[in-house]
Amino acid sequence: MANVVLVGAQWGDEGKAKVTDLLAKNAHVIVRYQGGSNAGHTVAVDGEIYKFHLIPSGILYKDKFAVIGPGTVIDPKILLSEIEDLKRRGIAVGGLKVSTAAHVTMPYHLAIDQAEDRGRGTKKIGTTGRGIGPTYADKADRFGIRMADLIDPIELEERVNWLVPRKNVILERLYSLPPEDPKKVYEEYREYGEKLKPFVTDTSALIFDAIKNKKNILFEGAQGTLLDLDHGTYPYVTSSNPVAGGACIGAGIGPTVVDRVIGISKAYTTRVGEGPFPTEVFGREADELRATGTTWAEFGTTTGRPRRVGWLDAVLLKYAVRVNGLDCLAVTKLDVLDSMEEINICIAYEDTLTGAKYYDLPLFSGVFKRVKPIYETLPGWKSSTNECRTREELPENAKKYLNRIQELLDTSIAIVSVGQKREHTIIIEDPIHGPKRVLQKT
Ligand code: IMP
Repeated sequence: MANVVLVGAQWGDEGKAKVTDLLAKNAHVIVRYQGGSNAGHTVAVDGEIYKFHLIPSGILYKDKFAVIGPGTVIDPKILLSEIEDLKRRGIAVGGLKVSTAAHVTMPYHLAIDQAEDRGRGTKKIGTTGRGIGPTYADKADRFGIRMADLIDPIELEERVNWLVPRKNVILERLYSLPPEDPKKVYEEYREYGEKLKPFVTDTSALIFDAIKNKKNILFEGAQGTLLDLDHGTYPYVTSSNPVAGGACIGAGIGPTVVDRVIGISKAYTTRVGEGPFPTEVFGREADELRATGTTWAEFGTTTGRPRRVGWLDAVLLKYAVRVNGLDCLAVTKLDVLDSMEEINICIAYEDTLTGAKYYDLPLFSGVFKRVKPIYETLPGWKSSTNECRTREELPENAKKYLNRIQELLDTSIAIVSVGQKREHTIIIEDPIHGPKRVLQKT
């Protein structure tokens, strides 16, 4: 038995949903521990495409619990539409459990998020506009409404009547936006609460019981390491903690129950939104990475924005190995590189002002925004990997590319994904019980 944390090792969109879907088979409970409807997961199962923002994709398996944990923020409108969509498609939703402690994204959070980011002008973050930052800010400021309040009409009315007028001051005076009507907000959200009540529970207790009964738990991070509020490329980050440590706080469990941490990285790099991106490429090179016939095109699931694309950045991945304590890595979308003549890996940065070289992520945002990548160039394999099902079947140069990544990161690659379907997957070593643990003491 093993309790596993799956974490994005880059700036999100690493293809976590596919790996979650793969590992969920052997888990009894799948837990989403942070973030909100800023996330977007796409999974292809039996010819059907499923897109989720909030519900863990583990819901697609029968007889499992899909938990939205205390560390998340929930837009009830979006959650209800995902539930309805699943029901329409004949998927049972009885296993969905939502934490009483998760915070609720209110309409003023959405309005403030969008107005604030516009107001940042050239310093905008390029948020998803889903109200994430303001919901987490209210949580920290103790102005939040939790799921427990949403399903309790008396508590909800009291909090809405207290909070909406306060928020109206910000909406009207700071952003010249129309105020919200507390009565209308209450009526709308009371109804959401009524509909969601059957799903809301103490999810930490549910997880604890499952652990005591020797069940496997899969903790699924949204976004990625470099979008982490504390450990990412601040200020161009999200407002929660996607890193592996966030799983404990965001799920309500102690660190002693985590057995394994798996990082997910694309075979290259993408980023949505603003912020420095040293290995970013443009023009024809970027078009080649952004869309291929065999896999998902690089457009944000939540916002539809084209993703910024670039070469694999081993400096950032080494950092992700460290701050997450990664045991092994899953590399996704290797097939996107199939047609490349040559492939670059960034092995260090050079400060364009001082000429200093960095083999580790520079901790000063002023330096990070002006570094340029130092590349190592490997020959491409110029053939399709889409039908490969074992490591041996991969072209020699693809094997060399993966080996080099392992060497640079001193971490083993356990899974390689070569296409969007469940079967487009190569298991190199058991991702759960694999031999190599970076932080092993003996
Ligand atoms: P927010 O989470 O909406 O506040 O956005 C903050 C930053 O995180 C922006 O650069 C977003 O584009 C990025 N971001 C948020 N969620 C995701 C995600 O699921 N994938 C990739 N980037 C994301």
